[in-house]
Amino acid sequence: MLKRKDLLGLQDLSAEEIESILDGAVQTKKMLSSQPKKGEDLKGRTLVTLFYENSTRTRTSFELAGKYLGAHEVNVSVATSSVQKGETLIDTGETLDSLKIDFIAIRHPMAGAPKLLAEHVKASVINGGDGMHEHPTQALLDMFTMREHFGKLKGLKVAILGDIKHSRVALSNIFGLGKFGAEVWVYSPATMMPKQLEKLGAHVATSREQAVDGADAVMGLRIQLERQNGGLFPSLSEYSRYFGVNDGILKYAKKDAIILHPGPVNRGVELTPQVIDGDSSKILWQVTNGLAVRMSILKLLNEYRENNL
Ligand code: CP
Repeated sequence: MLKRKDLLGLQDLSAEEIESILDGAVQTKKMLSSQPKKGEDLKGRTLVTLFYENSTRTRTSFELAGKYLGAHEVNVSVATSSVQKGETLIDTGETLDSLKIDFIAIRHPMAGAPKLLAEHVKASVINGGDGMHEHPTQALLDMFTMREHFGKLKGLKVAILGDIKHSRVALSNIFGLGKFGAEVWVYSPATMMPKQLEKLGAHVATSREQAVDGADAVMGLRIQLERQNGGLFPSLSEYSRYFGVNDGILKYAKKDAIILHPGPVNRGVELTPQVIDGDSSKILWQVTNGLAVRMSILKLLNEYRENNL
């Protein structure tokens, strides 16, 4: 059960609330194998996707999640909307609210934008990624994938390699996995490691080997070129060689370790093609699980709305 109108991040979500999303996703995933994929949980509800940044996985899976649960689904194309005429986020939100919508899935380059929107609209707001802050639905699908594969989260060692500083995925995973007793180890070039990450519960490794040693899951992260001014590493080939995920470094992980990546992947930079397409890769599995998790979130937020608003 969710105890809130909006889903803005994993930092404030209780372990019980996270568990209810993951448990719900077990059920919604079963629905994805049925034909036709047609639920009625959100019948008569309307979901708007409002993405100020590019997306393939998150936006499409929110749209499909709404459709499969019977909701009306509308995408606001920010590039051709009144945002381009200078409309503020709050004015856009209040305008959408006046159209009697129920859910807004938003992605925004500014950390905190979904919270600001949520404070001004009656609709339930779901954070689809805000700047360098959180990407809660991505971390939830990562956690679902690990729990599905290993049957638990407690005691797992998860190594996250790459651009930690600019990654909202890393931060949400640190918050979420920490609540379930999983150990998160991070490693990146020094220029891409935020300060004081240990205070949030992560282990900051001093070498790639230390991060990956005995890991159950190894997650590569995309270099967020759009959020940095360059000069954080010498060249892409050196980044790949010293900070990427390849068969050589995976020898340090457990034999049955799985490989994760939120996507989109820069092939040959964060992960080698052999790793991306190898047997241990769960990258496409993550995409399917993202749909199941987002369906579960919409169902739970809808239940909250029906009981409390
Ligand atoms: N993982 C993720 O957020 O992918 P998209 O940018 O394609 O939504």
